[in-house]
Amino acid sequence: MFSMRPIGVAYTPYTETDGVPKGLGAAHQAEGVLELAPEYEPGLTDIEGFSHLYVIWVFDRVEGYDLIASPPSDTRTHGVFATRSPRRPNAIGLTVVELLGREGRRLQVRGVDMLDRTPILDIKPYLSSVPESELRRGWLAEAEARAAGSDRDRDPGSGRTLG
Ligand SMILES: C[S@@+](CC[C@H](N)C(=O)[O-])C[C@H]1O[C@@H](n2cnc3c(N)ncnc32)[C@H](O)[C@@H]1O
Repeated sequence: MFSMRPIGVAYTPYTETDGVPKGLGAAHQAEGVLELAPEYEPGLTDIEGFSHLYVIWVFDRVEGYDLIASPPSDTRTHGVFATRSPRRPNAIGLTVVELLGREGRRLQVRGVDMLDRTPILDIKPYLSSVPESELRRGWLAEAEARAAGSDRDRDPGSGRTLG
């Protein structure tokens, strides 16, 4: 067993889970503030130079877990570790946000998808080293293709795809 304590709190526009954009093509453009406890402020030294950050946080308003998940982005079920479901054995959330600015121990960020006052466990610079050509998106790519196909079936002239 491990015990952890939050380093801070995320302030976001979302007070209820229904308010967070979900499903295929959901865009996370909402802004929020990551506020660290005063004793951790020195740990933010030099963070301003990074455009994006990983935020590691706790799904503190979920109870229990399901090993088979039903993501809103697909009509099919998938193993929880192949999804980003909040209902997981260790209720840990991971979000990449854009760093807009820093004021002392407060980081203004864009791209939050956690509820207001969610506890933060850690923050790290985001440095992706995987070329896009090598990334595979698993069942999500298949769900997107199916949705695009049924979209075209409904309106063959549109050529519109979801996303
Ligand atoms: C699909 S999860 C993805 C979160 C994160 N990007 C990840 O991959 O771990 C996002 C959903 O978690 C739920 N959620 C957000 N904050 C939460 C919290 N503090 N407690 C419980 N559920 C939360 C909301 O329903 C939101 O739509």
